[in-house]
Amino acid sequence: MKQGLFRAGMGVLLFFLFIVNVPVTASELRLIETGPGQRTWMTEQEIDALATARHTGRSGGFMDVTDFADASDEIPFFQLNNIFENKAPSQQRIVDELLPELSGQNFWEWIDVLSAFHNRYYKSESGLAAANWIADQFTRLAQGRTDVTVELVRHGFLQPSVVATIQGRGPKANERIVLGGHSDSTSSGGGLPATRRAPGADDNASGIATLLEVFRVLAQSGFQPERTIEFIAYAAEEVGLLGSQAIVKAHKSQNIPVIAVMQLDMTSYPGTSPRLTLISDYVNPDLNRFTEALIDTYLKVPRQQAPCGYGCSDHASWTRSGYPAVFPFEAPIGQDNAYIHSAYDTIDKLDMAFGMHFVKLGLAFAVETSLGEK
Ligand code: BES
Ligand code: ZN
Repeated sequence: MKQGLFRAGMGVLLFFLFIVNVPVTASELRLIETGPGQRTWMTEQEIDALATARHTGRSGGFMDVTDFADASDEIPFFQLNNIFENKAPSQQRIVDELLPELSGQNFWEWIDVLSAFHNRYYKSESGLAAANWIADQFTRLAQGRTDVTVELVRHGFLQPSVVATIQGRGPKANERIVLGGHSDSTSSGGGLPATRRAPGADDNASGIATLLEVFRVLAQSGFQPERTIEFIAYAAEEVGLLGSQAIVKAHKSQNIPVIAVMQLDMTSYPGTSPRLTLISDYVNPDLNRFTEALIDTYLKVPRQQAPCGYGCSDHASWTRSGYPAVFPFEAPIGQDNAYIHSAYDTIDKLDMAFGMHFVKLGLAFAVETSLGEK
């Protein structure tokens, strides 16, 4: 009897929570920045429409700055001395030894598993499951290493970001290198975004698979960096760079000197003339030039620079807060994968050998920036 009453009570309570909560969340406004000084309060539906408009070429990008309104106020002091000015690659022996350890099959398998989640939307159960799966892979790959930690960073929505850290050794251990990409996926079309099919094989299972494969080789080879390396799978990029903004804010508030950031987002659709494209806007020019030198030294494949036109991925969160970031990308804008943000962003459109260039570049970047003179 008591139990029955309790259940009935809970039922009523849940009912009220439901009817009280739903309209409140549905009408919750977010502050959306669409350009310098251009900010508007928008509903979730309006943001969804904005994302769709971008995809059909009717608008630029946007950033949800609700919780990060003054991120660009000051430049961190340690950025005044840029170590990448005139720096040349200097770790050939180690990089050349590790490059043959990278596996195209592993890389492909990871894209395959990640794109099999119904979607990886930041507010869906499968988006949460995908983040947990990524954390599990980092943990498994790091077995036997006491200098690696894997952490879930919780945000105000279901999907957490994932941070796998290889601890540096010696006097530069407090300095950090970041390799990151977003774990979430999205799809425009009918119904609710949280229930739409969004495989996101290129956007951005390819970037996450790149992080996992670089991490696997570093962890299993026993590589020990001087600077601490963080591998980050950001949550909620597709809805305004939410995960990366939160992570950048946390680094900034702890005064952590982040020396170099590489963003990996869309790496495996080769387009008509396969070559690596370094995004030229919202990035650090010196680190970009150093990344060109890495491509010439270790990959020896054609490269070019091209602008995204706006802060189109998580590198923009770092750049905006004064940290040096680069963003190697699959193609000049316009020749990139036209299937992204749809149910057709699948692995069959992608090219493993092309994607592996970015895995090699990620490995070279991690080794070269985490060791060395300066
Ligand atoms: N991977 C895309 C960014 C992208 C797409 C870069 C095509 C270059 C070519 C990313 O996940 C994305 O969709 N970003 C949003 C902007 C973000 C700030 C909401 C976009 O481009 O609409
Ligand atoms: Zn993306």
